[in-house]
Amino acid sequence: MLNWESLQSACLSCTRCPLSQTRHHVVFGVGPQDAEVLFVGEGPGENEDLQGEPFVGPAGKLLDDMLEMIDLDRSRVYIANIVKCRPPHNRDPLNEEQAACRHWLDAQRDLIRPKLIVCLGRIAAMAVIKPDFRITREHGQWFDRYGRRIMATYHPSALLRDVSKRPEAFSDLRIL
Ligand code: URA
Repeated sequence: MLNWESLQSACLSCTRCPLSQTRHHVVFGVGPQDAEVLFVGEGPGENEDLQGEPFVGPAGKLLDDMLEMIDLDRSRVYIANIVKCRPPHNRDPLNEEQAACRHWLDAQRDLIRPKLIVCLGRIAAMAVIKPDFRITREHGQWFDRYGRRIMATYHPSALLRDVSKRPEAFSDLRIL
């Protein structure tokens, strides 16, 4: 297994899929390498691509607010994405792109060894929990994968679009 520094530097120069040609930055992830909770989003948006850090735009602000409501802050959790480079126009990452990128997240998870993993949104839940994951029905439920407890909640961008889902997302995070 690569150590953290080698993993990060290999990831930052990755060209395994065409997203590498349009990115400004690889968004590797942020947080302590011994975090107890790993949050997994879908993929970088425009702000993240420009700054090289996950969840720094409006969705990130909402994520920070939600973490604060459960007495967590981003300095205590690790935040990563299924794909490390921005899909053009924020489209969903293609299966091939997810497959090409997946080993980076798996390696991060194996090095961090978090107690809990929280998928943010349907795409991350389908990739990490199961391909037929239904976010409206299965958010907030715990699953066992990779010897860890994993749950999914709504993606903060979905909560920006649909405020009525916020109480459900908040109660998912309270379980955490
Ligand atoms: N949405 C994501 O899924 N990830 C980010 O890093 C930012 C927005």
